[in-house]
Amino acid sequence: MAQSVRVCSVADIEEEDVMRFDHGDQTFAIYRCPDGAFFATDGYCTHEGAHLGDGIVDGYEIECPLHFGAFDYRNGEPTVAPACVRLKTFPATVEDGAVFITID
Ligand code: FES
Repeated sequence: MAQSVRVCSVADIEEEDVMRFDHGDQTFAIYRCPDGAFFATDGYCTHEGAHLGDGIVDGYEIECPLHFGAFDYRNGEPTVAPACVRLKTFPATVEDGAVFITID
């Protein structure tokens, strides 16, 4: 069943940055894009499982820290090889100064 989970305060992630978020046995990467909106994906790279929370945000892309593949974190589409399998994405919202994601 889908549930909304509080991640952090809006101020905890700078624009064009990423943060790791763990919840239960799941792990996520939470992004704040250059225009201030928030997005969330599965934490692990679909190539060989590096955590994208350790990657670098460049515009609307996350660059994986291990082999430098990249994804568009808004829709999970791979944009730079060796990343070639789509990342799962999760809805992210802001309420009363806090970031929430909806997970299954
Ligand atoms: Fe991410 Fe290889 S583990 S590109």
